[in-house]
Amino acid sequence: MEKPFIAGKRLVNAAFKQRFAIGAFNTVNLEVNQAIIETAKEENAPCWVQTSEKTISYAKIPNLVSMTRIIANENKIPVVLHLDHGHSVTQAKVCIDAGYSSVMIDTSLEEYETNLKLTRQVVTYARSRGVSVEAELGVLSRQSDMYTDPDQAVEFVEKTGIDYLAVAVGTKHGAFKLKGREKIDLKRLKTIHEKVPVPLVLHGASSVNPKTVKTANKYGAALTGLKGIPEETIRKAIKLGIAKINIDTDLRLAFTTGLRQFLAENPNEFGTREALLFAKEKVKEELRHKIKLFGMKNKAHNP
Ligand code: G3H
Ligand code: 13P
Ligand code: ZN
Repeated sequence: MEKPFIAGKRLVNAAFKQRFAIGAFNTVNLEVNQAIIETAKEENAPCWVQTSEKTISYAKIPNLVSMTRIIANENKIPVVLHLDHGHSVTQAKVCIDAGYSSVMIDTSLEEYETNLKLTRQVVTYARSRGVSVEAELGVLSRQSDMYTDPDQAVEFVEKTGIDYLAVAVGTKHGAFKLKGREKIDLKRLKTIHEKVPVPLVLHGASSVNPKTVKTANKYGAALTGLKGIPEETIRKAIKLGIAKINIDTDLRLAFTTGLRQFLAENPNEFGTREALLFAKEKVKEELRHKIKLFGMKNKAHNP
């Protein structure tokens, strides 16, 4: 029988204890999936692949599960396969049944009591199947009054039994065109960490490398004013209990910039594999950088 994926909490708890963070990388296709797993192998780092619901609609669960398992086996490393922002109990259960080893139930837009109830349902289902659970309290993409409340977080973690908690402390998904992005509320993060016993998760953590933006613009894009999270803030957040960091935007930017560059430099090339391979290498470069930043290098350990 094929080896199942490794439970998410094994990696996150180990990172939490040793004060580094697991880079949780969003995949969308074969090339990004290979890039994530191959780079983890090459850097001797723990490996975490995650899929959003949109990616599930795009690529379908059986493809994502098989592809991740096959690439993990080829590289002989344990991998976590995680559902990112599952918005329903049904979606979480479908992924658990399909072999995912970690799921995020994100019902954070619901009333607090509903969020609590739905999260608990997922924990009950997941626990007996050896699957880890992440949930979110507060809302990432709204205004400051939706930041995670530390005392409510204590109760939420206790009553749901989740393994790790996604916090809203000012980060946002994507590369936002904000005039002076809001400051990340590290004081609040510190308070949450002091009160809540489980590892914390930082979403919307891409940094948006200005060099990559410059390259994208050199090869035809017209990207202006994009902001991400400064790397110094990421380092501080890791010291304040963040043990899982979600990255999607930076991988998208690396991939599509690679495609732009390849096609601009090779205008007569119409080979699909050539362009995709070049883009994949750009994603791997970005992943190596994140692995170093998050302190994951040489932190792989066998289940
Ligand atoms: O949480 C947001 C992730 O970046 C997923 O984005 O829903 O477009 O795949 P997506
Ligand atoms: P970024 O858009 O900043 O990469 O965040 C990704 C994320 O939080 C996925 O859940
Ligand atoms: Zn997210």
